Amino acid sequence: MPTLPNLDHYWLPFTANRQFKSMPRLIKAAKGNYYTTIDDRTLLDGTAGLWCVAGGHGREEIASAVAHQLRTLDYAPAFQNSHPLAFEAAERLAEFLPQGLDRIFFTGSGSESADTALKIALAYQRVTGNPLRNKLIGRERGYHGVNFGGLAVGGIAGNRKAFGNGLTGVDHIRHPLDIARNAFTRGVPQEGGVELANEFEQRIVALHDPATIAALIVEPMQGSAGVILPPAGYLKRLREICDKYGILLIFDEVITGFGRLGTRFGVDYFGVVPDIITCAKGLTNGAVPMGAVAVKREIYDAFMTNTPAGAIELPHGYTYTAHPIGCAATIAMLDIFENEQLVERAANLSAHFEQAAHSLKGVPFVKDVRNIGLVAGIELESSPGKVGARAFATYLKCYEMGVMVRYTADIIAISPPLTIEKHEIDRIFSTIAEALTALHAGGEQALDPTRYLPNEQMWAAHQQEIRHQQAALVHSR
Ligand SMILES: Cc1ncc(COP(=O)(O)O)c(C=O)c1O
Repeated sequence: MPTLPNLDHYWLPFTANRQFKSMPRLIKAAKGNYYTTIDDRTLLDGTAGLWCVAGGHGREEIASAVAHQLRTLDYAPAFQNSHPLAFEAAERLAEFLPQGLDRIFFTGSGSESADTALKIALAYQRVTGNPLRNKLIGRERGYHGVNFGGLAVGGIAGNRKAFGNGLTGVDHIRHPLDIARNAFTRGVPQEGGVELANEFEQRIVALHDPATIAALIVEPMQGSAGVILPPAGYLKRLREICDKYGILLIFDEVITGFGRLGTRFGVDYFGVVPDIITCAKGLTNGAVPMGAVAVKREIYDAFMTNTPAGAIELPHGYTYTAHPIGCAATIAMLDIFENEQLVERAANLSAHFEQAAHSLKGVPFVKDVRNIGLVAGIELESSPGKVGARAFATYLKCYEMGVMVRYTADIIAISPPLTIEKHEIDRIFSTIAEALTALHAGGEQALDPTRYLPNEQMWAAHQQEIRHQQAALVHSR
């Protein structure tokens, strides 16, 4: 029986802690497309970690670049100083990014990237003589991380409600999910895109006065809220509206960047170029916390031109901005992208992936399948009064069967490493089908999480028992 660590002290993020600690799902190693669990079982990674391990796990190239960097320069002050790798990483990233977005601000995460982008947008309006343009527009069901800026423009109700008033001067456009019209569409829905985007102009821009809006931020494809695809023409129309009113357009590409859609960025997939792009995750293959914000050259130049000589142009940054380790990992990862043609690989696999995802049509509880590149969202019918319970049970059942999937509410999201093989794609979707069929056969009882992962439950109970005994011993002394 493997020994469990003391589970008391660590507070897990976005996790039902009590539930987790009664059934801990601990991973001790990972290589390629597979994890090894604490009890030496192998799990196929259907989610590239949290959408971040684009190049597969345990990349030797990244490990040795990071180890070398740690021994050479572990840290240099990020403000008023820098180090050569920061410039090299920025140059390499600029080459990988869509043309024109080639001025890079580094951050430590996707959340920091989102807040940095929003701050750059506000400061840009001010520095170009438009200080009244200080409103930020996001989108319903958008996810831009968890810091206050990203939270404010984000549109996932459950993430917002516990945290007070957030920012003022924020509004949201509608999300484009329309299952009644588009269920089981392969790729982007064809209908309704322009009409929906026009609402931005008719409803939000008109309501607020366009001269007060600094920026609109959207994910090209909404990932965290359950794989919501923009209908054809939608993003292009948003771009036109932003251009018409002098509003900056920010694409949050934390998920869609780095090959996920079979193109380098969502920009390349949709052919729509924003003013600012945020990214993170795949930037370092998830191996080192790191994010980046890329802005159009004109935006950077405006700060350089309109700020007094010698002044700090943007009073913003992090201790870990362009951290040497992150920069080393970034460069190593960009090499992997190039050497292994990972983006092309994803593009070549996407037809097979689409076919496999849509094989779930007709499987119990499946009410929609959405896909793009190497992403699929499988929306399930919720059990009455128990939203999320069915997807959670599906996740647990898949875990038992050796496949890691991800869920949000009653949507299963699949986004494997771009190194995935066709037979592994087949296994991911056939496991989901099997899990759902088992849930269907098991009725209401199958929604009870305590029916899954008996080993994990046993260890947790065992550990609890030992801790109680130890506590009793201390008490009796
Ligand atoms: C679109 C988007 N933006 C921002 C974030 C936040 O990134 P992080 O968790 O690295 O802060 C995420 C994370 O999933 C994301 O999907």
